[in-house]
Amino acid sequence: MTRIAVLGRIPASGLEVLRQAGDVWAWDHDEHIPDDVRDEQLATADASVTLLTNKVDGAFLDAAPNLRVVANVAVGFNNVDVAACERRGVVVTNTPGVLADATADLAMALILMLTRRLGEGERLIRSGEPWAWGMFMMLGTGIQGRQLGIIGMGGIGEALAARAKAFGMEVVYHNRRPVAPEVAAHLDAERLELDVLLATSDVVSVNCPYNADTHHLIDAVALARMKSSAFLVNTARGPIVNEAALADALRSGLIAGAALDVFENEPQVHPGLLDLDNAVLVPHLGSATVETRGAMAELAARNVVEVLAGRPPLTPVAPPVNA
Ligand code: GLV
Repeated sequence: MTRIAVLGRIPASGLEVLRQAGDVWAWDHDEHIPDDVRDEQLATADASVTLLTNKVDGAFLDAAPNLRVVANVAVGFNNVDVAACERRGVVVTNTPGVLADATADLAMALILMLTRRLGEGERLIRSGEPWAWGMFMMLGTGIQGRQLGIIGMGGIGEALAARAKAFGMEVVYHNRRPVAPEVAAHLDAERLELDVLLATSDVVSVNCPYNADTHHLIDAVALARMKSSAFLVNTARGPIVNEAALADALRSGLIAGAALDVFENEPQVHPGLLDLDNAVLVPHLGSATVETRGAMAELAARNVVEVLAGRPPLTPVAPPVNA
């Protein structure tokens, strides 16, 4: 009997799809699966479904002699050693597309939270401090006519560009390679070198994959290139931003503010960020809607079904091209 090991909790609709393909074992707890339980399941598994918190490395693969596919329920796959999987003939898939809208919604929400000081306002009300409407109270920055610089113009970047334009922002982007001509035509956004994007943008949004080339892409030098009035938003992966350098930049006024949905040593947050009013911090919620998590689980499951049936996967991971 074909066996599928689901190594973290996923929505029921994903499990239903998987049941078409074999005998499903699923870890059904919010806590992380212990290594010994994982390895026991991997020992006889033909397919595994992983979350971004499951590390797929040599030890994982050693425990899984029959494995044919790792279906990661995330668009990012930096938790998976893709080269090691390839060497052992294990297919790796991710879940692009289905989470672009939800993640772009969150990025737009963070831009508004930052520029309109909504976190600060919420904290003020909850603090019980007296307050009253005032002409000059808690003034933010309008975004109309301001430049949004998107680093990494993939599906999420495109969805964010559409939202930002609807809010009246000008959009520019940086990609290592130009986007496809039909995407470029539809985007109406100029491609800039990274340094130019950093120096000219009012809001910089990080939307590229995390890999060796993008580790600390936003470091002290990059932050120093930004305008002192500019804001940084990261909804991609934490280690793309050097968090210590960011905390210094926010404290010294090198940039105006930053919003992070992802953290360098997740779930830890650099302590230097915690007491800063110009930092908005949320716990990795980019794709966290009921609809999106269902769609992600179903896409991962359909990838498993395809591979186990001997057909090509729907969304195999692509080499990183967006940074
Ligand atoms: C979430 O962070 C994802 O990569 O899907």
